[in-house]
Amino acid sequence: MNIVFFTGAGISAESGVRTFRDSDGLWHNYRIEDVATPEAWHRHPERVLDFYNQRRRQLYEVEPNTAHQAISALQEHFEVQVITQNVDDLHERAGNRRVLHLHGELRKVRSVEHPELVYPWEGNLHLGDTCERGAQLRPHIVWFGEAVPLMKEAEDLTRRADILVVVGTSLQVYPAAGLLHCAAPGTPVYYIDPNPNAQTCLSNLTVITKPASEALPILANKLLEQRG
Ligand code: APR
Repeated sequence: MNIVFFTGAGISAESGVRTFRDSDGLWHNYRIEDVATPEAWHRHPERVLDFYNQRRRQLYEVEPNTAHQAISALQEHFEVQVITQNVDDLHERAGNRRVLHLHGELRKVRSVEHPELVYPWEGNLHLGDTCERGAQLRPHIVWFGEAVPLMKEAEDLTRRADILVVVGTSLQVYPAAGLLHCAAPGTPVYYIDPNPNAQTCLSNLTVITKPASEALPILANKLLEQRG
């Protein structure tokens, strides 16, 4: 049995990482076009670096929560694949072994001229930090207006799901949000979010209007019972 978890900022909210579009969300304090687009990087690279340096530093202050842990515990009983829009590493730190980061990773940087040169990175990234071939490094983040290189892989993984569990995402950002529709017809889909996107409609959809840390341990038990 293959369970695919498709997660968004909401799963990390209870760890203390701010979401993007909730009332206290990051996009209420920053304009996307100032910090999360290729144009922003060309116009004000320091501002973009500062934004992601703050996000990276914050990772040292937070821990995975019971929602991340509930997913990781299921690995003992099921094939578990996580597809996350999150750029934090909380799934990995909770012990999840198969995590695909659709929108990149804060703890990695890459060369602006040689995108295949990707490096682990701790601490702040500055102008003047360069790859081994001398080009500036940038955050390893998929910005608005950029292609999502792992989308095809995520779609293939979702097609193979026996169960799809969507957690903590407003489903407003495409192409990622389209993953829901990649599940094979008849696949049970659970959507856990205290404020779910009301436009979501699928035939086998169960919406659980609760915080992830509450709903995921309950759903995990249910899946284990069903398995027998
Ligand atoms: N448990 C579960 N869900 C929660 C919780 C919680 N405790 N708290 C908030 N949420 C939900 C909100 O109700 C909302 O639907 O998390 C969702 C967060 O939505 P967004 O802030 O839009 O985050 P996300 O959907 O992950 O954003 C997608 O947008 O800016 C980009 O690249 C960024 O990957 C991100 C993408």
